[in-house]
Amino acid sequence: MADKAILIIGDQRIELPVLVGTEGERAVDITTLREQTGLVTYDPSFGNTAACKSDITFIDGEKGILRYRGIPIEQFTEKPNFVEVAWLLIFGRLPKKDELDLFSQRLTENELLHEGLRHQYSHIPVDAPPMAILSATLNNLACFHQQFFKLVDDESFVEVAARLISKVRTIAAFSHRRSNGLPFNYPDPNLRYCANFLHMMFSIPYKQYIITPEIEDALNLIFILHADHEQNCSTSTVRTVGSARANLFASCAAGVSALWGPLHGGANVEVIEMLERIHHGGLAPEDCLRMAKDKSNPFRLFGFGHRVYKNYDPRAKILRESCDRVFATLRRQDPLLDIARKLEELALADSYFVDRKLYPNVDFYSGILLRAMGIPTNVFTVCFAIGRLPGWIAQWKEQHEDPTSRITRPRQVYTGPPQTDYVPMDQR
Ligand code: ACO
Repeated sequence: MADKAILIIGDQRIELPVLVGTEGERAVDITTLREQTGLVTYDPSFGNTAACKSDITFIDGEKGILRYRGIPIEQFTEKPNFVEVAWLLIFGRLPKKDELDLFSQRLTENELLHEGLRHQYSHIPVDAPPMAILSATLNNLACFHQQFFKLVDDESFVEVAARLISKVRTIAAFSHRRSNGLPFNYPDPNLRYCANFLHMMFSIPYKQYIITPEIEDALNLIFILHADHEQNCSTSTVRTVGSARANLFASCAAGVSALWGPLHGGANVEVIEMLERIHHGGLAPEDCLRMAKDKSNPFRLFGFGHRVYKNYDPRAKILRESCDRVFATLRRQDPLLDIARKLEELALADSYFVDRKLYPNVDFYSGILLRAMGIPTNVFTVCFAIGRLPGWIAQWKEQHEDPTSRITRPRQVYTGPPQTDYVPMDQR
């Protein structure tokens, strides 16, 4: 196997090292290219650029494989435990029982928001998008936990990670309550992570929300399947912000902003809105495909396609099965699930989608499952963020522990005007 790449530019011939990952992935190391040749590489949207080495998550997009710290995600589905997976991602191995218990206890201790932070909700418009509230409030957490700007030892890192993972769910639930004019529910220290989130979302003062094991498991599963996905848009944002040595609150708040976009985490909302339009007769499945294929139309088949997966997204496969299980157990039906299946069937038989290897991604079925739990559409992407937070924290940690890590600063190819003289206002 070649361990060097030869690059010939005019009459210059240079050798570049080839890095090989654990799974045999190879990458030409171009870090000295500019120094040796004056050239930079051009790779808009980084479709072909490895921005870091990472031990956290492995994806094989051609085969539809996703593993956290080496463990295939399918193996987390039997008894889904999001907190265990969060610990695995952040600390690099499966926790022992006492480690998991201790971390869970820390989550419980940190579930409340500072009252000052809670009062901020009263000044937010009632129809404020929960993703805007989430990003702003994560940033505002920094005002109340300034002792964590410099992480002096492992203990302070564990503490800040626990604070973030715990408080994000309180912030998310409060955003939902605020946007529906409902009183806030304080967290219940006797409940597990996902059950507590459901309680804060749905209990009302005179009626405790009844948590069914099927729903609690399904929420754990959803969070697990979103927990990390190597260098996606929001994670790359967290790393970029973190590379400037910005604190963990600011870095994760930036991740939330990136995730909000409809091409990224916001796609789960777009999927449901598309399925609802079909259901209400505004659009036929065939119209969706036609519009998605029409290059003059900005419409996309949301929940389909992926930068990395050129096969069925393994997360979508698990969620599709989970939908079937949850609906059967709860004896429920959702016409949107039938529409989604029909759309999938049509798309997977259409040469446009087949030729481009466009398959359902994680967002295609997640919204249907969230709906079954009673989670409103404007909280879908917030749920994605709760799930993704351990991944962001793990990636931020890895970057900060890497002694070779430098501030992220891509180059560009300038295509603007050549040197031009400034013209005074009265002569323009
Ligand atoms: N509908 C219609 N056409 C599509 C779609 C889609 N959903 N996805 C990709 N294509 C087309 C592209 O237009 C392109 O066509 P062309 O070759 O004729 O120019 C071709 O398929 C290849 O596209 P890619 O280069 O693979 O797409 P890219 O990597 O730029 O974008 C993305 C990936 C943003 C996910 C895209 O597939 C998309 O917009 N999907 C819909 C939004 C969505 O579901 N996002 C969630 C992704 S998962 C996540 O972030 C959690």
